[in-house]
Amino acid sequence: MGGAGRNQVRIGSEGAHLCHYSPLTAFLLDNPVRRALLKPDAILGGLVLPGMTVVDLGCGSGLFTHAMARMVGDTGRVIAVDVQGEMLEYARRRCERQGYGSRVTWHQNSPGSLGLSGPVDFVLSFHMVHEVADQERLLRDAHAVLRPGGRYLVAEPASHVPVTAFEQTLETAVRAGFVVENRPRIPMSRGALLVK
Ligand SMILES: C[S@@+](CC[C@H](N)C(=O)[O-])C[C@H]1O[C@@H](n2cnc3c(N)ncnc32)[C@H](O)[C@@H]1O
Repeated sequence: MGGAGRNQVRIGSEGAHLCHYSPLTAFLLDNPVRRALLKPDAILGGLVLPGMTVVDLGCGSGLFTHAMARMVGDTGRVIAVDVQGEMLEYARRRCERQGYGSRVTWHQNSPGSLGLSGPVDFVLSFHMVHEVADQERLLRDAHAVLRPGGRYLVAEPASHVPVTAFEQTLETAVRAGFVVENRPRIPMSRGALLVK
């Protein structure tokens, strides 16, 4: 995550670092500047539609959770997932202040498992996959929870995920059963839209 590097801590496995919760980290992830630079609505436009059930995997402090909750409308549902309870709590409080709390289910998973049953229509992992030690397990879990034809948008921070590492993640995604549909341009990111 660009800007919060000093708040990253190792969680045991080679190369994987968790963006550790603090009030500052939560703010660095969700503030007016990052919102203006990334434009969540533009990134998710056409992918998240009214009535859908969608997952924000590694939601952090909820920048994308709020946008998704607005986009799915009253008949849709967002499942916000994070390994850190403090991140979920921060995102939950903010979502409730915005009036979207009833559309979101908050789920704290364990690092090695998604722990969700589907089917869901769409999954987002924004600036999250590089923090996961066992990417193959994560991608297989995401594949399992999606309905056939469901899409998975993966965006990784270009500042510290090199092209080669991102390509390896996509190879792992293909092994997990995904097809790479396209490579959307996402500010400050390397992105891929995967389809089950
Ligand atoms: C850099 S933050 C990005 C947060 C959010 N997606 C955003 O872009 O604002 C990465 C988040 O992924 C979470 N995370 C890391 N590994 C995870 C895992 N295995 N399962 C679920 N969440 C995870 C971290 O706790 C952290 O909140």
